[in-house]
Amino acid sequence: MPAPPASHPPPAPEPTAAGGGRVPQHIAIVMDGNGRWAQRRGRPRTFGHRAGAKTVRLCVRFCLERGIRALTLFAFSSENWKRPQEEVGALMNLFMRSLDREVDELHEHGVRLRFIGERAHLSAAIGKRMDSAERRTAGNTALHLNVAISYGGRWDIVQAARTLAQAAVRGQLDPSTIDEALFAQHVELAEQPAPDLFIRTGGDRRISNFLLWQMAYTELWFTDTLWPDLDVAELDRALVDFAARERRFGRTGAQVAQVGGA
Ligand code: IPE
Ligand code: IPE
Ligand code: MG
Repeated sequence: MPAPPASHPPPAPEPTAAGGGRVPQHIAIVMDGNGRWAQRRGRPRTFGHRAGAKTVRLCVRFCLERGIRALTLFAFSSENWKRPQEEVGALMNLFMRSLDREVDELHEHGVRLRFIGERAHLSAAIGKRMDSAERRTAGNTALHLNVAISYGGRWDIVQAARTLAQAAVRGQLDPSTIDEALFAQHVELAEQPAPDLFIRTGGDRRISNFLLWQMAYTELWFTDTLWPDLDVAELDRALVDFAARERRFGRTGAQVAQVGGA
């Protein structure tokens, strides 16, 4: 039987951890639970968002130390615009201050920054800082740090569809040539391997409109720990769990054992 068309390149072999298990190349994280963390302490939700910033730094350090190539953090969803104006404003201020404070150090560590999401909804001041951080770190290779702000997986798929439709209308694209491989080139993070491991803190077992296209075959890992409480030991537990999983990508276990998952 002829092989089906390869709509996705097979995932590249993953680096091997000291313990022999596979290490994810790309981790995607829903940083959830800041509000509850603050409320449990009798403090306003924004106190939790500020506390969560240190966990972002911890995760970046963790990825640099473990040789993980890409980290995508869900910082603000398309749906989060529906929150009280005061909380949205506090989050936007926090992003702005974090950009002002953190970019130098990220750059020194060889981190390449990318922002994904609907930029038109963000203020010009934030947009300007994002552009400048992306330009400044564009040559770095130690870690791709992607921050999803004003991002929704559905928006991402729609913007890819719109781009292709516009090319078709201009006569630059024959719609019958649109396949998964071509579509995949137009969603966010097209140039990076798809996330291998998804982590969500805060206890809810859902994707909340994160990378819908990109996570078709991502391994999902959930913890009840609230984002500001996440530590290295728990991140290591996620990696241990990931290393033990058999990723079959539709094949049988026997096939995977034979070809080493390739
Ligand atoms: C995640 O924490 C941060 C953002 C969504 C911006 P939450 O603010 O959702 O915290 P909980 O889930 O209400 O505790
Ligand atoms: C998901 O968290 C988005 C981010 C972490 C940025 P939410 O707290 O907004 O998710 P839902 O609405 O409870 O699913
Ligand atoms: Mg939440």
